[in-house]
Amino acid sequence: MSGIAVTMCLCRRMPFTRLLPLARDRNWTLEDVIRETGCGDQCGLCRPYVRRMLLTGETTFTELLAE
Ligand code: FES
Repeated sequence: MSGIAVTMCLCRRMPFTRLLPLARDRNWTLEDVIRETGCGDQCGLCRPYVRRMLLTGETTFTELLAE
């Protein structure tokens, strides 16, 4: 393990700790998150993390996730 953690959408500078409560309040799917916040709409690298966050409520990821 490299010790690097993924904790935000870098392109939108949106921490997952901020994104998760927004998404939970509004019952957003991944597609809703992308449309409403732009997270996942640029480089797309955060998309699998956002998807996992919505499923499990995790906001810090130390494994590499791909689509
Ligand atoms: S890190 Fe989220 S779109 Fe690039």
